[in-house]
Amino acid sequence: MNTYHSLENWLSWVDKLSSEDYVVIDHFLRPDLHLQVREFFLSRLALFKQAGIGALDQNSIDTTIRGDQTFWLDNVRDQEINGFWDLVDEMIHVFNRYCFLSLSGYEFHLANYPPGGHYAKHLDQFNDRNNRMISVVLYLNEGWQPGDGGELKLFHDNEQSSIVTPTAGKCVLFKSATMPHQVLPAQKERNSLTGWLLYQPTALGQFLG
Ligand code: OGA
Ligand code: MN
Repeated sequence: MNTYHSLENWLSWVDKLSSEDYVVIDHFLRPDLHLQVREFFLSRLALFKQAGIGALDQNSIDTTIRGDQTFWLDNVRDQEINGFWDLVDEMIHVFNRYCFLSLSGYEFHLANYPPGGHYAKHLDQFNDRNNRMISVVLYLNEGWQPGDGGELKLFHDNEQSSIVTPTAGKCVLFKSATMPHQVLPAQKERNSLTGWLLYQPTALGQFLG
């Protein structure tokens, strides 16, 4: 099979994700795919909506907790980023084969934090919908500089934390249920493609307790 990343690379990332609950991968998107995603992102900016917190009917907007605007993606409609959907399929295939995860769906959105925007410490699971297994964040910020802010802070069990700079082409994977995290205030616009690999498709998962 002709894969985007080698099996050797995938296995080293899977290993790190399993043992440390997260992995940071530089240059995960090569320049051509990064450009494809970035151009799509920019072409949809007018359609972004203020993001809420909580799932379904509990969804509410509070920019003191979460300041980004998002645009939910659809793999049938959004063919312009086919290279990305192929990469997601490859990721799910590897995780199911080597982590026995039974992932059977995903949900992704584009996210734009305006200057000053942040996302307070949280987990990526909702009380009434707990099927998010792996969080996937891809950064689209070309020319990010120290001082631009918007770093992702991951909180580990042992009181330690990791800071991830949101530089273009980087991918962060972490376990959705157990890794608290926050987005530090951005000083400049901060763009990402963020999503979740799901244990069951959303329509089923939303009924789980
Ligand atoms: C989220 C989130 C992290 C990031 O959207 O739930 O935590 O670095 N994003 O954008
Ligand atoms: Mn999150």
